[in-house]
Amino acid sequence: MRTQVGIIGAGPAGLTLSHLLHLQGIDSVVLESRTQEYVEQRVRAGVLEQGTVDLLKESGVGARLEREGLIHEGIELRFNRAGHRINFAELTGGKSITIYAQHEVLKDLTAARRAAGGQLYYQAEAVSLHDADTPQPKINFRHPGGKTEILECDFIAGCDGFHGICRDAIPSQALRIHERVYPFGWLGILAEVAPSAEELIYTYHERGFALLSMRSPQISRLYLQCDPEEDIANWSDDRIWTELRTRFATRDDWSLADGPIVQKGITPMRSFVAEPMRHGNLFLLGDAAHIVPPTGAKGLNLAIADVRVLTRALIDFYKHKKRDRLDRYSDTCLRRVWKVQRFSWWMTSMLHCFPNEDTFAHNLHLAELDYVTSSRAASQSLAENYVGLPMEEDEAKR
Ligand code: FAD
Ligand code: DHB
Repeated sequence: MRTQVGIIGAGPAGLTLSHLLHLQGIDSVVLESRTQEYVEQRVRAGVLEQGTVDLLKESGVGARLEREGLIHEGIELRFNRAGHRINFAELTGGKSITIYAQHEVLKDLTAARRAAGGQLYYQAEAVSLHDADTPQPKINFRHPGGKTEILECDFIAGCDGFHGICRDAIPSQALRIHERVYPFGWLGILAEVAPSAEELIYTYHERGFALLSMRSPQISRLYLQCDPEEDIANWSDDRIWTELRTRFATRDDWSLADGPIVQKGITPMRSFVAEPMRHGNLFLLGDAAHIVPPTGAKGLNLAIADVRVLTRALIDFYKHKKRDRLDRYSDTCLRRVWKVQRFSWWMTSMLHCFPNEDTFAHNLHLAELDYVTSSRAASQSLAENYVGLPMEEDEAKR
C-alpha cells in the first residue's frame, strides 16, 4: 500500500490532519489500533478554544458543533467561599470557548473522511517504523486477523498519543525529554444532571481542587483532585458527591445538584515535552510529543495547533516544492507548546494543594487567586491564554 502521508492514530490530531490534507488534494491513510466504536466513546476533553472552533468550522466539519456546542464567555474562579468571574469576551475583544466533547469532534471528522472516501483503517496497529530519516519511510502494521502489511509514504505523521510507538522511533541520542509528574490526579465523573452553573467553576479548597464542567444542558462533568494512586473502587457515588459539595461550598444561595453517575475514572497528571518533534520525515503531533496537566483544558487544542502547522508545511512542500516550513516544524510548534505548558503548569499550581503544604503555602494560593481576580492585567493574561494564543505560524516569528 502507498500514500503521501501515513498517519498513525485516529484521535483529534490524526483525523484533523487527514481531513485538512484531503481538502488540499493531499492523500493520506490513517491507521488506528482501536475500533471506531471505542475511539468514538472515549470520554476525554471538552473545551475547544476559539481558534480550534474556527478551524473546524472553516474546514466544513463545524455544523453540529455550531448547533450543539455551548459557547461560554467566561469562567468562575471560586475560593474562600466566594466566586469571581473572569469575563473572556470583555478581556479578549470578544473571544469565547465552546463546550463540545472530544468524541463528538471525532465523530464529525470520521463522518467527513468517510463521506469523502478517505482511507481509515481501524483495528490496524502500527508495529514498527522503517527508514523514517529517508525519503521513503515505511510503516509496518497489523490487520485485525494478525496479517501484517507495509504502508509506504513520503511522510509519517505520529499522531499516536502518549503511549504510541512513534516517539520511541526517534533515536534516544536525538531526543530530549522534559517532564514533571504531579503528586495528584483527577477523579472525573459524567453525571445525568443539569449543570449547577451556566459556566465552568474552578475551585481552590484546602481539601483540594474541584471543577464543575458540562457536556450539555442535561449532562454535568465534574472533577476533583485526588491521590494519583487512588483506587476508584474506594469512591462510592455518595462519597464523590459529598466531597464535591464540600469543596464547592460557597454562599447559602448556591447548591450542587446531584444525579446518576454514568462514568467515572482517575487520570494521573504530568507535563511532558519531547524535543525535537521531528526526525527526518517522521513528525510528532499532539500527545505523542507533549502532555499538559488538564487544568488549562489545553490537550486537544494543542494537538490541533500542531496539525495546523504541519498542514501548511505539507501544502508548501507538495504545491511549491518548498521544504523550509517542514524544516521549521519542530521549532514553530515548540515555541507555542512551551507557552501553553507554562499556562497549564501555572493554573495547576495555583489551584491544587500539594502534599504537606503549610499555612504559608495556603495563603500564597489565596493571594494569587485574589490578585488574578482583582487585577485587570492578571485577569486578561488568564483570559487570553484560556481562549487560546494565536495559532498562526507567523506568530512564532514575532
Ligand atoms: P489521542 O487522542 O491519544 O489519539 C491517539 C490515537 O492513536 C488513539 O486513538 C490510539 O488508540 C492510537 N494509537 C496508539 N498507538 C497506536 C499504534 N501503534 N497504531 C495505531 N494507532 C495507535 N484534555 C483536556 O483538555 N481536558 C480533559 O479533560 C482531558 N481528559 C483526558 C482524559 C484522559 C484519560 C486522557 C488520556 C487525556 C485527556 N485529555 C484531556 C487530553 C486530550 O484528550 C488529549 O490531549 C488529546 O486526545 C490528544 O489528541 P491526540 O490525537 O494527540 O492523541
Ligand atoms: C474540562 C476538562 C478540563 O481539563 C478543563 O480544564 C475544563 C473542562 C471538561 O472535560 O469539560
